[in-house]
Amino acid sequence: MHLPKAELHLHIEGTLEPELAFALAARNGVDLPYADTEELRKAYLFEDLQTFLDLYYALMAVLRTEEDFAELADAYLARAATQGVRHAEIFFDPQAHTDRGVPIGTVIEGLGRALDRSEETHGISTQLIMCFLRDKSAESALETLEAAKPYVHRISAVGLDSAEVGHPPAKFREVYAAATALGLRKVAHAGEEGPPEYIREALDVLGVERIDHGLRCMEDPDLVDRLVSERIPLTLCPLSNVRLRAIDVLEQHPLRSMMDAGLLCTVNSDDPAYFGGYVGDTFHAVHEALGLDREQLRTLARNSFEAAFLDHDEERRAR
Ligand code: HPA
Ligand code: ZN
Repeated sequence: MHLPKAELHLHIEGTLEPELAFALAARNGVDLPYADTEELRKAYLFEDLQTFLDLYYALMAVLRTEEDFAELADAYLARAATQGVRHAEIFFDPQAHTDRGVPIGTVIEGLGRALDRSEETHGISTQLIMCFLRDKSAESALETLEAAKPYVHRISAVGLDSAEVGHPPAKFREVYAAATALGLRKVAHAGEEGPPEYIREALDVLGVERIDHGLRCMEDPDLVDRLVSERIPLTLCPLSNVRLRAIDVLEQHPLRSMMDAGLLCTVNSDDPAYFGGYVGDTFHAVHEALGLDREQLRTLARNSFEAAFLDHDEERRAR
């Protein structure tokens, strides 16, 4: 039995399972450089964030139509429902699609089609978080926000992802200010591979309300104190940290010490098709590897609702 929970760190493109990738490739006449799903799965051995991102972006070539995006999101929601997810705040990467000629409206309307029927079909309420690719320019992020304006009613928040080191949050000061003016909420990946300073910058320069990952805050005790006292949620992704070699083995993940320090931790799947598990699997894995007991797992589940962008009534209904 999976605890009811919210998933707050989930890249919809990272839910593209090999079987669906091949089905969409066949439907859209896209050639994949792998013979079959087995050979593709063998490529899921990553050295770091960048080696993962190279494959993650390459496989997106199969996503072309509204129906493709709707199927992708629907498949995620169906799986998430079996793992206790009641609410999902879902990242998408519009630039990864517009750069290869897929209009932003195709992406958002396609995802929206699945999200619109999610409560009824899967019992999961949803929100969309539009991420800017931080290894692209600040101008490209501004253009993306501009292009998203006709669909802004479908978007709750903006985020920042892709290759972190060398692309500090401050590069995106202007687009975050513009997003705020549109009434959007704000999150950012920080402290996954990048230094603790990027976490401070995301808070102070971008004004984010949650930190995605935030793992490296543990190198900076003053920053930990601040995150604790301001009750800034961290959306941790332990299986991702192992697969992308931020840590060697799950047994060494600092989740337990982070909880003990009083940090508002949540546990999420990041890119579950690539990292070996959906969010319920992740709860199970940290239970096994770190010996978190039932009460600590309940705390993580409770934290996920506190950290979600839900108002009180929505939160009560989702729990
Ligand atoms: N980090 C940064 N960018 C990403 C990730 C991640 O874990 N997954 C998909 N895009
Ligand atoms: Zn992520």
